[in-house]
Amino acid sequence: MPNHLIPDARWPSQAEAKTAKLFSPIRIGAIEALRRTWVPAMVPWRSNEEGAVTPDVLDWYGRFADGKPGVLVVEATGIRDIPSGPLLRIGDDRFIPGLKELVETVRERSEGETRLFIQILDFLTIRRRPTREKFFERFLVLDERHRERLRDMSQLGLTADSHDANFRAALLGLSEDELSRVLSSRERSDLNHGYRERVTDLELPHIAELPEVLPGLFGDAAVRAREAGFDGVELHYAHAYTMASFLSRTNQRDDGYGGGLEQRVRLPLEVFDRVRSLVGPDLTVGSRFLSDEIIEGGSRVEDAAYFAERFAERGMDFLSISRGGKFDDAKQPKVGEAAYPYTGPSGHECMPSIRIDEGSPFGRNLEATSIIRARVRAAGHSTPVVAAGGFNNFDLAESALASGDCDVVAAARQSLADPDWFRKMEAGRGSEIRRCVFTNYCEGLDQKHKQVTCQLWDRDFEQPDPLQPAGSSVRRSSDGKRRLVPPSS
Ligand SMILES: Cc1cc2nc3c(=O)[nH]c(=O)nc-3n(C[C@H](O)[C@H](O)[C@H](O)COP(=O)(O)O)c2cc1C
Ligand code: SF4
Repeated sequence: MPNHLIPDARWPSQAEAKTAKLFSPIRIGAIEALRRTWVPAMVPWRSNEEGAVTPDVLDWYGRFADGKPGVLVVEATGIRDIPSGPLLRIGDDRFIPGLKELVETVRERSEGETRLFIQILDFLTIRRRPTREKFFERFLVLDERHRERLRDMSQLGLTADSHDANFRAALLGLSEDELSRVLSSRERSDLNHGYRERVTDLELPHIAELPEVLPGLFGDAAVRAREAGFDGVELHYAHAYTMASFLSRTNQRDDGYGGGLEQRVRLPLEVFDRVRSLVGPDLTVGSRFLSDEIIEGGSRVEDAAYFAERFAERGMDFLSISRGGKFDDAKQPKVGEAAYPYTGPSGHECMPSIRIDEGSPFGRNLEATSIIRARVRAAGHSTPVVAAGGFNNFDLAESALASGDCDVVAAARQSLADPDWFRKMEAGRGSEIRRCVFTNYCEGLDQKHKQVTCQLWDRDFEQPDPLQPAGSSVRRSSDGKRRLVPPSS
């Protein structure tokens, strides 16, 4: 794999920054962002098993707020009231007080300059990859199709009188090649990657009824976000999760919510309609979705442009464009681990590293974003379009805005490396920026559901914790090896 070099950066003087589009305001629905700088959703695994806003969550977002981005989006937050590990949650009113505290922290720390959105998410069940023994003894639903194929393998000596236990034991001894003749491709995927629900599993009642259930769940979550004081919500229609799966070309549901473009966009529009009807025009509501799913048979940029036009005409306040990040092409997990959607080619497009194969990781999703925005503008809508993917310097950001490829620039990893980077740029102090090296150490931690930190600062225990009283020691990750909050700079 090639190693792309981090391009040298030219930083603006304070005078140049003053006239830069990047630091100019923009209206986004009900609010005005003071700058076109945006920190997109990033799960840092700072919540707890209850999905609550913990002191670590407050410290994390407080630290990003110090950098005063125009918009800060709180991580993907679950809309259901179900145990979800340490994922932040908004599926019940009891989460509101904690979320309120989060809003207050960001307001205070950004001195009122950062608008705070929250990304709200639904996801389907995914299980760890089982051992072969477990799969054949417990998980596989043995049916007549299996029995018949196994009986046909005469060397196994199975007959119509054989017990299921004999069929299961026989399966355990088969080679990959033999298994491919007995199991369906879905069953092989469950065996080799772990069981994962799809939106097309219409035989499961809770999947069939998603179109009835999801508008209410998203709607109630958005009401709670408004109650907590957020400036906006971002509907998570991207990556490996439920709503993105409805938009996907792979969605062939035959109940009016799959198949053609119009059917695939139907539920995302119905979810948005419900949210809007419940929160009214005073809360900014937009969505994040994919310019390209990257996977074989997945949606491409022309699908995304169609969705964007529909979303804009329906009244969404912003369109945030991501790329890839699917389960479909994820690497096979180890036994006992679950698949992670950022390990295959689509994952590499989502968080492009310097090791990505063809083309540069920097501004990688911009061309597709530009096509999407052009379609929205051609249809007469002025909806702001947010670009992300490898933004790490002034010229890249400013030229993307100046050329009309996007209206707002989002930077995730560069902001993680240095949450003050936008502010430093604006102050003409660009040379002081701690520059991301795009090798995805942070993403590796996310994959293991470990508290996310950055390799550029997490072993620096000399610098005080900006959020702790003077003289107190720096708080560390649960493995004791890393500091949890970037030092001030
Ligand atoms: C640790 C980590 C967690 C992320 N979590 C989310 C998330 O919760 N929701 C989301 O839409 N994107 C998530 N992303 C993707 C980023 O928002 C962003 O789209 C991606 O990293 C590409 O932008 P960048 O090149 O500026 O990092 C995450 C990225 C990282 C590195
Ligand atoms: S860990 Fe690496 S890729 Fe992630 S933000 Fe830090 S420097 Fe960038």
